Amino acid sequence: MIKDERWEGVYSFEDSPYLMEILSNLRDKETGTIKFRKGLVKLGRYMGYEFTRTMDYDKLRVETPLETTEGVAAGDRKHVLIITVLRVAIPLMEGLIKTLECSRVGIVSASRGHAPEFNIEMKYIKVPQIKPEDTLIIADPMIATGSTLIRTIEGIKQCGKPKRVVIMGVLAAPEGIDSIKELHPDVEIFVAKIDRELNKKGYILPGLGDAGDRAFGEPLNISMLPLMHNLE
Ligand code: URA
Repeated sequence: MIKDERWEGVYSFEDSPYLMEILSNLRDKETGTIKFRKGLVKLGRYMGYEFTRTMDYDKLRVETPLETTEGVAAGDRKHVLIITVLRVAIPLMEGLIKTLECSRVGIVSASRGHAPEFNIEMKYIKVPQIKPEDTLIIADPMIATGSTLIRTIEGIKQCGKPKRVVIMGVLAAPEGIDSIKELHPDVEIFVAKIDRELNKKGYILPGLGDAGDRAFGEPLNISMLPLMHNLE
């Protein structure tokens, strides 16, 4: 895990060849939907594992069959709340809960409109009660403009004050981190890698394309929905 000197509380996992290998597979345009989703689950699992190094633990005494020795108890790992930003955070969350298995899970549906406004539409928020001892992890693989995350953080901060607010992503653009940190300097950010920049359409470069479409397939054009009702 590397601390990025440009910001406070921003970390990447560029020092892990294993995680960089998974990321390279995700970037590859030849990687199909199933491998892409599996890659996101894997990243979630190992980023979750690396993240546990930053958590507080309790000490305990443990009795082996031979003698008593010092041990470690879950501590903060018992109090994790993962907010899954639909749709592409689903496989990342699936990976995270393999390591952070006691996590409660909230769901937020937020979608970003087109450039240049990038208006955010939030249609669905279902979040368990936020407690002062919680480490609240917002899973969102692509930190691009940061606007979806800013809306999500603002919504969450109105619901309670957790111990830590953490964003867990795959890639981030420096522009997105700047925007989030300007408004919410207390929020920590962990990503596999910080990429170069955003393009005019709000995609991260070099990036991996539209992560939602690559994980789940391109969505149906909304204008086709009445046609589906007719089929019922
Ligand atoms: N969302 C994506 O899926 N990809 C990007 O590059 C930026 C936002």
